Amino acid sequence: MSRHKLRTLGARALSPETLMMGYGYDPALSEGSIKTPIFQTSTFVFRSAEDGKRFFEVAYGLREKEPEEALGLIYSRINNPNLEILEDRLSVWDRAERALVFSSGMAAISTSILALCRPGERVLYSAPAYGGTEYLFDRILPRMGVRVESVAANAGTEALRMAIARASDEARAEGGRLAVVYVETPANPTNEMVDIRAAAEAVRACAGEARPALVVDNTFLGPLWQRPLQLGADLVLYSLTKYVGGHSDLIAGGCMGGGEIMARIGEMRTICGTMPDPHTAWMLLRSLETLHLRMERSQANAETLISRLREHPGVEGVLVAGGASEEQKAIFARQCSGIGSTFSIRVRGGEAEAFAVLNALRLFKLAVSLGGTESLASHPSSTTHSDYSAEAKARCAISENLIRLSVGVENVEDLWADLSQALALI
Ligand SMILES: Cc1ncc(COP(=O)(O)O)c(C=O)c1O
Repeated sequence: MSRHKLRTLGARALSPETLMMGYGYDPALSEGSIKTPIFQTSTFVFRSAEDGKRFFEVAYGLREKEPEEALGLIYSRINNPNLEILEDRLSVWDRAERALVFSSGMAAISTSILALCRPGERVLYSAPAYGGTEYLFDRILPRMGVRVESVAANAGTEALRMAIARASDEARAEGGRLAVVYVETPANPTNEMVDIRAAAEAVRACAGEARPALVVDNTFLGPLWQRPLQLGADLVLYSLTKYVGGHSDLIAGGCMGGGEIMARIGEMRTICGTMPDPHTAWMLLRSLETLHLRMERSQANAETLISRLREHPGVEGVLVAGGASEEQKAIFARQCSGIGSTFSIRVRGGEAEAFAVLNALRLFKLAVSLGGTESLASHPSSTTHSDYSAEAKARCAISENLIRLSVGVENVEDLWADLSQALALI
């Protein structure tokens, strides 16, 4: 095993935090540079015509790779060192066989879904999901002959199991198949948890030749606090724009899973051209070195704020992963090791009171994203979820007094001072 792919030291398995500093990068291939250079190039020069032929045979699936053979560098839409090193490092956190990176979270989601389902097949998803994902599912996939249905994340595990079994049976009765079960957990912005292990059991119980793939968007808690592949998911997806990028300065996505499913997604990425550029991949490599520090600190800040917000007279409720009911607590205990740092509050009053608080905030910035070093606040009902019908908002409990907070790594007492002065207005 070459040194840059070492995952153990003697009998000791190295931790992801340690592997983020160098795993997958061989300085000897880059003049000894301790950091990965940016391979800002569109194409790569073959040493010989025979090399070009061999590389394309593997890239186009004309032959299997030899056991120790690496795919030679061809063209940056197909492969590039920055993307490959980033993919090696990302797969460490989720203990995945293979990872692929994309130009955005939505590129990861849409490319994966296109690879996994065909006209005449079905997709079932847990709602609410990220707005762009719901748009893809509800408006774009039906135009391509894919039938999409949803099950409310707050309907509970039994409802989820039944929805999976029913969708699969109905699809088979029509001569089709349920191709994908898609779960986003915790759900945005209510932090409702979906039981990943129960969903994995339900997809495996589906009769028929090819069971559905279980796909989990792990943007909110991953990769530190939730590991869907270890709970039976086939694919884990990320908006790397959020915690992994972590500085609100790039847009990217990722997906991870086993070799067979990833080969299908890799083929689709090459043809759709949804990979990131080398510079973005390099920024992500840098971000990964501090990922655990940022996620641990922002979570500690969030925990302090949550305990104080729960006592605040201006706050009706705090919506935290695993906090809603006994069933939710049990799911959280089984599948998560932390609450992350994105949660919501219901302030006393309605939209006017929520807006008064948002407009008074000085440190929390008013913006729709999450997972950055700086704290953000948003009003889901009038922004990210404004295209929901009144009925859908009521079903998903997205009320007008709901404010979503993404807590960063600032001094927590400064953040509390900001929230306290804003909440004092209502
Ligand atoms: C849970 C979740 N998934 C996917 C996405 C889409 O990611 P991107 O904006 O990187 O395309 C987002 C964006 O907010 C998100 O919150």
